[in-house]
Amino acid sequence: MEFPLIAPRPPRLSEQMEGLKRIEASGQFSNNGPEVRALEAEMVARLFDGRGAALAVGNATLGLMIAIRQAAGLHPRPGTLAMMPAMTFAATAQAAIWAGLTPLIVDIDPQDWTADAAEEERMLAQHGGRIGVVVPYATFGTVIDLDRYAWLARRYEVGVVIDAAASLGTLDEAGRGFGTGAPFALVYSMHATKTFSVGEGGLVYSGDADRIDQLRDGEFRFRERAQRDPAGHQCQDARDTGPDGTEQAGRTR
Ligand SMILES: Cc1ncc(COP(=O)(O)O)c(C=O)c1O
Repeated sequence: MEFPLIAPRPPRLSEQMEGLKRIEASGQFSNNGPEVRALEAEMVARLFDGRGAALAVGNATLGLMIAIRQAAGLHPRPGTLAMMPAMTFAATAQAAIWAGLTPLIVDIDPQDWTADAAEEERMLAQHGGRIGVVVPYATFGTVIDLDRYAWLARRYEVGVVIDAAASLGTLDEAGRGFGTGAPFALVYSMHATKTFSVGEGGLVYSGDADRIDQLRDGEFRFRERAQRDPAGHQCQDARDTGPDGTEQAGRTR
């Protein structure tokens, strides 16, 4: 029996010299530089049918942290919960803690290893308004039902952030990039262990471009903030993710 394996194939740094020279010539090494903005635009065009907007970040953990804080209303009260499945990565719980929330673990469905839908609703009914945000994991790139999460968000007035760490390049049933047009944020990893890898990097995408603008304004504008989150992290995308990511995006589709 043959099992298909997807192996990460990060672009070769030695082949990115032109991009690195462009960065050097521009003199803008971070903070919304032209290479990173070009990467974000290309990602949206190639992977998400040109719908919505994206923000490149240093890694998915940081992307989760800022997206969780936004979804929970920017200044969550102490004790506000972030509900996430037992089958996820430690960094997701860490991101919730850095955002000022307390992780609440929900059981998974043993059949597909994603959050158990009935358990999620039971928790939402039990904890009510204490749950500020639901953070499902699209396990190993599995396509989960985003319409159901949009419904849960309306039904329970709760924020939603999808941990889509392994999903960059996953197509949904309609053949579109997983997450295309979603009303909430999805956070993808471009870590070297992921199929879409640039060494290290993350992408926050939403079908709602205003949501991404708000994140960019809140997190990345020097004039308005010191570019740092309350826990002291620098969230901006690393300078070399621009050329690497653009190279990787060129390999998709
Ligand atoms: C489920 C999940 N969430 C979040 C992350 C964090 O991603 P990053 O390494 O880009 O911070 C990972 C990384 O492996 C992951 O597997």
